[in-house]
Amino acid sequence: MDLAARPYRSVLYIPGSKERALEKAKTLPVDAIIFDLEDAVAVEEKANARALLTRTLSDGGYGARAQIVRVNGAETEWGDADLFAVMEIGPQAILLPKVESIGQVTEVAEKLDAHPACADTQIWAMIETPRGVLHAHVIATAPRMSGFVLGTNDLAKDLNCRFRADRLPLQTSLQTSLLAARAAGIVCLDGVYNAFKDDDGLRAECEQGRDLGMDGKTLIHPAQVAVTNEVFAPSEEEVDLARRQIAAFDEAEAKGLGVAVVDGKIVENLHIVTAKATLAKAEAIANMA
Ligand code: COA
Ligand code: MG
Repeated sequence: MDLAARPYRSVLYIPGSKERALEKAKTLPVDAIIFDLEDAVAVEEKANARALLTRTLSDGGYGARAQIVRVNGAETEWGDADLFAVMEIGPQAILLPKVESIGQVTEVAEKLDAHPACADTQIWAMIETPRGVLHAHVIATAPRMSGFVLGTNDLAKDLNCRFRADRLPLQTSLQTSLLAARAAGIVCLDGVYNAFKDDDGLRAECEQGRDLGMDGKTLIHPAQVAVTNEVFAPSEEEVDLARRQIAAFDEAEAKGLGVAVVDGKIVENLHIVTAKATLAKAEAIANMA
């Protein structure tokens, strides 16, 4: 499936060092997986995780789920070896941590250009530092750049802000990143919800991210998948409304009118763009099953 046309409701981080979790993910109804070599992997496990992950991904078995590999940063002692190993398997996307400048991305893009296995490999960026947020609109235009992942734990640390249920202190960062992603036409995924046993809190945060315009949420535990998939999918009512709007607008156009009315609300061409996107998303989700 075309990576841009697929759903990204639920995007689960899996530590590249955890064999059981890597195995379990093959059965989970997630839209995408971030196979992690960075912060979810302990320093003493870095080399083993790299070997285990490249072997696991070469064997396959992840079906329609998008596969994104998060490497360690180029400035760390593992960054080069991670990139070298991961390029051999030509993954769908490589996720770079703590991206703060377009140059960091261009450097990796040039390496991918020179590697025959990586002709179609995209680059994604973690936006998780103040500099990253401030430069997001430039980073979004980098070669091969296709998606942002918000690193809200790192951001909160650097901003020195408090965790609040309404995430007020993070709003500027979330929305600046989203603006940049939308301006460039790339995917934007919300950060993780740490309390993985708190379904109500997760639902509220998913709804907030969805309402802001995020494509989906990154997750740390399988228990978070069901709620997230539900919140980020168009509801039956939304699909029904989209169908009725399209039908009403077609009818209006046939009569030479540019405007229709559905449920007492005006429907113009721009609403039809949204309605068609809703139907396309519902269909893409159905195709994941
Ligand atoms: N992906 C896939 N499977 C996972 C998983 C994940 N992120 N987290 C847990 N599982 C699996 C476990 O392997 C276990 O499977 P099993 O039944 O086959 O043994 C099952 O889900 C239940 O796990 P549980 O015992 O509830 O979790 P835990 O206490 O072992 O681990 C965490 C809890 C938070 C440490 C773990 O979920 C984790 O490592 N999450 C990812 C963290 C991460 O990637 N952070 C970086 C980005 S913020
Ligand atoms: Mg981080």
